[in-house]
Amino acid sequence: MSHATTHQHDVVIIGGGGAGLRAAIAIAEENPSFSVACVSKVYPMRSHTVTAEGGAAAVIKPNDSLEDHIYDTISGADWLADQDAVEYFVNRAPSEMIQLEHWGCPWSRMADGSVAVRPFGGMKIERTWFAADKTGFHMLHSLFQTTLKYGNIVRYDEHFASKLLLDDEGRCRGCAAIELRTGTVRAILGKSVIICTGGAGKAFPFTTNGAIKTGDGMAMAYHAGVALKDMEFIQYHPTGLPGTGILITEASRGEGGILVNKDGYRYLQDYDLGEALDVSDPRHPQKRAMELGPRDKLSQCFIKEKNAGRTIKTKDGDAVHLDLRHLGAAKIDKRIPFVRELARSYAGIDPVHQPIPVRPVVHYVMGGIDVDSNSATNIPGLYAAGECACVSINGANRLGSNSLTELLVFGAQAGTHAARFAMDKPDYDVSGLEAQAADEGERIRRTWFRTRTRSGSERIAVLRNELHDAMEDGAGIYRDADSLDAACEKIAELRDRYRKVVLDDHTNSFNTELTAALELSSLLDVAEAMAHSARERTESRGSHQRLDHPDRNDDDFLAHTLAFRADGGGAPRIEYRPVTITKWPPGERTYGADSGLKRPADEPGEAGEPGEPGEPS
Ligand code: FUM
Repeated sequence: MSHATTHQHDVVIIGGGGAGLRAAIAIAEENPSFSVACVSKVYPMRSHTVTAEGGAAAVIKPNDSLEDHIYDTISGADWLADQDAVEYFVNRAPSEMIQLEHWGCPWSRMADGSVAVRPFGGMKIERTWFAADKTGFHMLHSLFQTTLKYGNIVRYDEHFASKLLLDDEGRCRGCAAIELRTGTVRAILGKSVIICTGGAGKAFPFTTNGAIKTGDGMAMAYHAGVALKDMEFIQYHPTGLPGTGILITEASRGEGGILVNKDGYRYLQDYDLGEALDVSDPRHPQKRAMELGPRDKLSQCFIKEKNAGRTIKTKDGDAVHLDLRHLGAAKIDKRIPFVRELARSYAGIDPVHQPIPVRPVVHYVMGGIDVDSNSATNIPGLYAAGECACVSINGANRLGSNSLTELLVFGAQAGTHAARFAMDKPDYDVSGLEAQAADEGERIRRTWFRTRTRSGSERIAVLRNELHDAMEDGAGIYRDADSLDAACEKIAELRDRYRKVVLDDHTNSFNTELTAALELSSLLDVAEAMAHSARERTESRGSHQRLDHPDRNDDDFLAHTLAFRADGGGAPRIEYRPVTITKWPPGERTYGADSGLKRPADEPGEAGEPGEPGEPS
């Protein structure tokens, strides 16, 4: 670690994925004279947004309505979403998507030139915009290339932010970040700060998440005194490849793929998710039903099939089959070419001829940094957006394709509000901040570059594997008091042992062992918040299913969980805040025939198959 250097800007964004880049553009537009720092631990185009496949939801067709998108989102969230935030999100979504097209995003289109949309899980109607099945790649490219036209967005690529810097008045003024290439610790300062660092799926062993999703931003905010909200709600995506966890997009079911058990039976029809229409029926795929039910329920059905002995045994564990064969090669190649590529490369399966083995896989954290409806935290000058934040529109279960839109809507909102905050409070005393960054560099050097002692040492991989087992066994799709107690105890033990981790690598340039150590610290923080929040919520709702408390309990738990870090270690303090209910009183979640399903016959405005002109793939 070399001595801290100081860099002054107007707004600092930590995270260079979709939310961070959208925020950067919003700031540059709000105040063209502002200097915006974008600090990212990877090159922005390697951010996890790039991997998103199936699409982004927004109302665009005349047969759809904002009201329906709101209702689907709120009911999908098992009524734990804040309804004012959902309304804002749904209302802003279409203009953000159109704006993205103007910045170059090549949305797939219908033969008549209109934007193509596909059905996605839990949605009454098709409203998911897509760019074949590489939607995140195209969205991130469009955002990234747009940032390049602004000379005032300064990138700090491959900088690991490890600490937020607060001034004497408790206002957030920037971060300390290690330049990975040199080991230099920088104080990157601003008048306001936005965290956009993505999720924390790497707290679990089997996830669609890239290696970088280790909850670093959540952990930084948690340490600074911001609560982590609703962390017990972990989304398992129903269709990951066994072994690798690679995502097989929900778009494959939106295009008509079906899920069958070892007997070739469409088992979802046994779980109140609608009737299994023949795949040649024009009403197939059915919206808000069967394979297009919500993710929490589909993942729970998998476990029930497994427990009943009806899953398929593979060398990588239990699976069911995702069958796409009836779609035919032409449709698969046109609409979901990446699915074919992934299945061939990573499972040795050609989905044109064989069903794909799939199983639920950790995909998304509904919870995150507690922010209000302006994306502001309780620390003045600190904002958060994207998966790392909880605003909250996803409640207890996010609907597929809402998150790409969320990072646009709330990335833009956080950018605008952080810029206005910086304009309103322009004073800028940096004296104590530089010293804080220097202390952080010294802490890292002292902690990690010490020599081995005789009191014993711990290895990063050992602790990380034990954490993974504790989370999967204790806080997986189904939990109970015993499993969660065990997870909480294990995490406390791992925290203790973490203090004895010793690194072999004391070099300064791209010290990946040091990065792994810092990431493990973040994972322990977020896992602690997840397990404790889950233990305290003695009800079942959405993705949080307690075997010992199987029912939803609105009387006691129509509330957000807030986990505050305990100073000096120990269990987090848990508090609750009521959910904001505006027009949609909590009701039963129904899918299948009773769910307000719109049949294609009722749908005007279909313009035929997505057409050749303008298709990106
Ligand atoms: O299946 C998918 O393409 C995932 C989409 C999402 O998580 O929103």
